[in-house]
Amino acid sequence: MATVAVKSKQITVNPISGALGAEVSGVDLSRPMDDGTFAEIRKALLDHCVIFFRDQKLTPDQQKDFSRRFGHLNVHPFVGHVAGHPEIIPIIKEKDEKVNFGGGWHTDMSFLAEPPLGSVLYALETPTYGGDTLWANQYLAYEQLSAGMKKMLDGLVAVHTAGMQYGTESEASKNSAKRKSMETKATAEAETTIEHPVVRTHPETGRKGLYVNEAFTLKFKGMTKRESRPLLQFLFAHCVQEPFTCRFRWQPGSLAFWDNRCTQHYALNDYHGQRREMHRVTIDGDKPF
Ligand code: SIN
Repeated sequence: MATVAVKSKQITVNPISGALGAEVSGVDLSRPMDDGTFAEIRKALLDHCVIFFRDQKLTPDQQKDFSRRFGHLNVHPFVGHVAGHPEIIPIIKEKDEKVNFGGGWHTDMSFLAEPPLGSVLYALETPTYGGDTLWANQYLAYEQLSAGMKKMLDGLVAVHTAGMQYGTESEASKNSAKRKSMETKATAEAETTIEHPVVRTHPETGRKGLYVNEAFTLKFKGMTKRESRPLLQFLFAHCVQEPFTCRFRWQPGSLAFWDNRCTQHYALNDYHGQRREMHRVTIDGDKPF
C-alpha cells in the first residue's frame, strides 16, 4: 500500500492511516466519469480498502450512477429506503434518539449468499462533533496471525445469519423498533443461515482476509454455538485492533466508499442531541471463496 500522496493522471490519493483508508481529490462525482478516472478510483479502492471524497454535491440519482459503475445495486431486504429510490438506505439518527445504525463492528450483509462488493455512504447532515466512522483492514488481521492459527482457519467455514440483527426475537430488532427515523423489518426470514469461508480470497487483489464479524457470524459449520464461541470471540476482537484501523471525520458532502470484502466498519454513537443523516448505496458482490 502506498503511504505517501500519489498523484495519478486524474486524481490525487492521500492515505489517512498506515492501515487503510485514503482521501481522493480531483474528481466531481456528480458528473459522468471517463474510463481513465474510473480505473484510477477503482485502483485506489483496491489499494486502500476504503476511500473518501470531500465536498461532493450529489442527488440520489448521481450517487446511484457513480455506484453503478462498480456493479449492480442492492435493495436491502430488511431496511426501508429513500422514497422513490429502493437502492438507497437513509441512515438517520434524530436529536432525540439514542440508538444508531451500524453502531458495532460489522461487514455489510455477510448473511447474503453473495455479500456486497462495497458500500457508498454520502453525508447530508453531520453533528458538530462525533459521529465518526472507523474501518478495520481484514487483510492485515489475517496476515498478523501466527502460521498455526492461519493453518487452522484456512479450512474453516462460518455460518452467517441476519437473525441477530433483524430476527423477531433479537435484542437489536427490539432496539431498532425504538428508532423512529429508520424503518427496519423484524422477520423470521432473517433467521436463514448461509455459509462462507472464514478466510476469503479477494476476487480482484487475490489477497487473503478474515471474513467473520460479530453482527452476522453465528458459529462455525459443524460445531455448536457454545463450541464456536471462544475462537469466534478471539477473532472478533483480533480483527478490529487499533493498528488495523482508520477513522474518518464526516462533513456534509463527504462520501466514503469501502470494499466490503476486506474491511469491517463501526459507526460511533457519541453525538446524542445532534442529528446525523446519510444515504447509503450498496453494490452487489460475489460468492466468497
Ligand atoms: C453503516 O454501517 O453502513 C453505517 C455507517 C455510518 O453511518 O457511519
